Amino acid sequence: MSNTSHNAGHEEPHTGPIKTPKQMAWASVVSFVAPVIVIIGLVYSVTSQNKPAADAANPELAVAQRIQKIGTIEIVDANRPARAGEAVYKAQCAACHDSGAAGAPKLADSGAWAPRIKTGYEALLTSALKGKGAMGAQGGGASTDLEIGRAVVYLANAGGAKFAEPAAPAPADAASAPAK
Ligand code: HEC
Repeated sequence: MSNTSHNAGHEEPHTGPIKTPKQMAWASVVSFVAPVIVIIGLVYSVTSQNKPAADAANPELAVAQRIQKIGTIEIVDANRPARAGEAVYKAQCAACHDSGAAGAPKLADSGAWAPRIKTGYEALLTSALKGKGAMGAQGGGASTDLEIGRAVVYLANAGGAKFAEPAAPAPADAASAPAK
């Protein structure tokens, strides 16, 4: 008895919104055909965009460009000749120290440099290598510590210091590196 009323109570909800063959046809279009069209569209947009122009003369290069990772790491060749302080400064420091961006002491602004120069070359080098305030670490990137040292000397001397340019690599490095 309770069984019968139970089943009867569930009869009604099983009749869905699809009642005619026409509705059935529309339902199948929407649920099967439309997603397929969307997927074809997605595949097309993914495969047709952002492709480096195929280089017919050099297919290997074209493949290498397509599969290259987004970031690249520049390995510094420890044996290449160290760049001069001014070159390093122009490449890596001028962006902030020419304009005074983010409160950087400007090149040749002796008023701004005098109190810093008093702390000594080693302290300034440490700041440049490890970072200080708004200045990020300059060491460990595209430049060797020696080059950062030369840039510090270039910058500080322009601001009134009389630091000697760091020239010789540490003895341990000199022993392992080929003589230049
Ligand atoms: C992103 C901007 C920025 C770049 C790039 C930058 N600096 Fe700086 N630098 C600053 C700022 C800002 C300060 C002041 C930091 C403070 O005193 O809080 C500063 C301070 C310094 C000081 C003084 C540190 C001290 O102890 O007083 C030295 C030396 C220096 N920079 C050298 C360099 C050298 C060399 C480079 C390039 C290799 C360089 N900076 C690149 C922003 C920069």
